[in-house]
Amino acid sequence: MKLLVEANNILSLITRGSGDLSGMKERIKKGYEGEFSQHVHQYDGLGYHLQDRSARIQLEGLSFDGMRVLDVGCGTGALAHIALENGAERVVCGDISAFMLKEAKGKEAVGSVDYTFCQLDAEDLPYKDGSFHAVISGMTFGVLPNQRLAVEEMIRVAKPGGLVCVGAHGPEHYWEAIDATLRCINKRYVLGYRFEWWPRKERYIRRLLEKSNLERIRSKRVIWRNEFNDGYSAYDFFAAISSSWWYAKFPPDERKKDSIRTRDYFKRKNVNIVTDDIVVAYGYKPIDIT
Ligand SMILES: C[S@@+](CC[C@H](N)C(=O)[O-])C[C@H]1O[C@@H](n2cnc3c(N)ncnc32)[C@H](O)[C@@H]1O
Repeated sequence: MKLLVEANNILSLITRGSGDLSGMKERIKKGYEGEFSQHVHQYDGLGYHLQDRSARIQLEGLSFDGMRVLDVGCGTGALAHIALENGAERVVCGDISAFMLKEAKGKEAVGSVDYTFCQLDAEDLPYKDGSFHAVISGMTFGVLPNQRLAVEEMIRVAKPGGLVCVGAHGPEHYWEAIDATLRCINKRYVLGYRFEWWPRKERYIRRLLEKSNLERIRSKRVIWRNEFNDGYSAYDFFAAISSSWWYAKFPPDERKKDSIRTRDYFKRKNVNIVTDDIVVAYGYKPIDIT
């Protein structure tokens, strides 16, 4: 199936589907606003505990004492909450999706008065240079069309000496669920369509930071398997967390029918294991002494 995906991506070069980066971004935004399916409304209910687990792995060993922190692609706030727990003085939660920000705001009581929200695009952050002591982003890079630009933006808004920390989807991330979905969905709607999904190797994310001259860079990759009671539960989880982005190219009246068919396929084939694969890299912006 990976070969087929690659072949389809090459086809998308010919059909120019892969060049439409702003279209991809718009489809992801719509996905996380629930336009293609209602699954995303279950994001926290079905998936927050696993997002929290990834976020804890990503931020392990990092202190945010007294810091002003920006969480880019905050979703419902998994990383932001850990930064607050670990001493951050002020956390700004930024996301492209109004729906995800609304969900994050619903948890405001858990945080402090210095917990604020901003609808933004990771590739064009609406902040001045050097605004934050730490800029973090978790499990968002996999859906950003221009990951280099996003890293440059994170570094730009970090203070000299500030932390920049990226957690991204690794190559095996949710592969069982993606594979099952691709086998099952009606392929005529996605032929020549470059999926809005760009998982990365640890080496790639690390190199992004190295090329931007960050200092004291560290990286790691952590893989684990999540087991669900049955295929239905695995499908519901996957559809909620990924916002059913693959329905972007489906006619609206086909989405529901296809969702039922795909969910049944998960059950029939007993797809109840979903691998998590997270790659993390972080470093510090050099202090300019000139
Ligand atoms: C898989 S969720 C991860 C959310 C959160 N960081 C977590 O770990 O739970 C990906 C998030 O990235 C957001 N996102 C996607 N494209 C974005 C962009 N260009 N700028 C900002 N946020 C974006 C989505 O709206 C979604 O909330």
